[in-house]
Amino acid sequence: MTVMKTLAVGLMSGTSADGVTAALIRLSSSRVEVVRCETYPYSAALRGRVLGAAKLTTPELSRLNMELGEAFARAALKISRGKKPSVIGSHGQTVWHGPDQDPANTLQIGEASVIAERTGITVVADFRPRDMAAGGQGAPLVPAFDEFLFAKGPSRALVNIGGIANVSIVGNGSLRSAFDTGPGNGLMDLAVRIATKGRSHMDAGGRMARRGWANASLVERLLKHPYFRKRPPKSLDKDFFGEKFLLKRFHPITLASLPDVLATLCLFTARSIAESVPHDVHEVVVSGGGALNATLMRALALSIEPARLKTSKAYGLPVMAKEAACFAWLGWRALNGKPNNCPQATGSRRRLILGKIVPS
Ligand SMILES: Nc1ncnc2c1ncn2[C@@H]1O[C@H](COP(=O)(O)OP(=O)(O)O)[C@@H](O)[C@H]1O
Ligand SMILES: [Mg+2]
Repeated sequence: MTVMKTLAVGLMSGTSADGVTAALIRLSSSRVEVVRCETYPYSAALRGRVLGAAKLTTPELSRLNMELGEAFARAALKISRGKKPSVIGSHGQTVWHGPDQDPANTLQIGEASVIAERTGITVVADFRPRDMAAGGQGAPLVPAFDEFLFAKGPSRALVNIGGIANVSIVGNGSLRSAFDTGPGNGLMDLAVRIATKGRSHMDAGGRMARRGWANASLVERLLKHPYFRKRPPKSLDKDFFGEKFLLKRFHPITLASLPDVLATLCLFTARSIAESVPHDVHEVVVSGGGALNATLMRALALSIEPARLKTSKAYGLPVMAKEAACFAWLGWRALNGKPNNCPQATGSRRRLILGKIVPS
């Protein structure tokens, strides 16, 4: 029997606004194989505009939408390297996410028409609003992919640590639950930007945090935040655990205090993730940029014991590729008329085909 394989590209830029992560993947009805994955960083100026997008005027936002479309198109062309994928699934850049407002609303930009025009490939984008229109939170969307990949195995927690961290609990045939657990790298990135006055954007490898001392009693207090007691489905805007939250608890953040601030944030982030993992789950599989922070990973490994910590790489998905691959898969599903949302995760009323299709 021949297995039909399709090439697809996924484009993802999350709340960290570090850049566009592009993945070229090979898909069949039961498998996903990552051919290549690359993150194309935003310039510091573009990153600044994206992070402050909620404060842009409408003309500025409209222009940013087209500029990001160009950046996404360049990423898609580079990762394809002359190959012709059947579809590009593009998450876009979230500039606002308000699931608890009335009406619930969300905005991802990075114009799909520009991507389709530059690449000549059909693009599926704008996945979140349809889920919201059906009563859901529009997030998280990755659990559908987690279910596809891991439902057949034992209970696992799939954790993605981007700007925000989220978890899917999957196994024994289905998805049990999925939600945003709280902060990911976002608070740590912010502390680094404040202390270095924007010269540095992250704690590479978690090396600064490793030199610091975590304030354990502050972490216990931070874990009492009402968000952690809220029952799923729940999702977060990036600014929820943002500058206001940070500066209220850590002030001033200077080059001298930064290692201790980062060590404390690492422990807080690790513990808030660990508390979202049910006790009967024996394996936690991490993806996203947070998996490259060794200090965070060490804190997480200790916090989830006796469960074991792995990265998605152990299952063939490089840590940065997981979410990008997911959006390639979501786009491919939409193009083939197959449902691609997860009502248990988002709270939407029914199974839906998410995404708007821009023909090649
Ligand atoms: N080498 C690294 N060491 C430590 N942290 C890293 C490294 N590479 C990336 N990160 C962290 O991961 C973030 C990007 O992760 P990503 O999964 O792309 O998140 P998002 O989906 O929010 O864009 C960066 O902002 C940074 O905090
Ligand atoms: Mg990113």
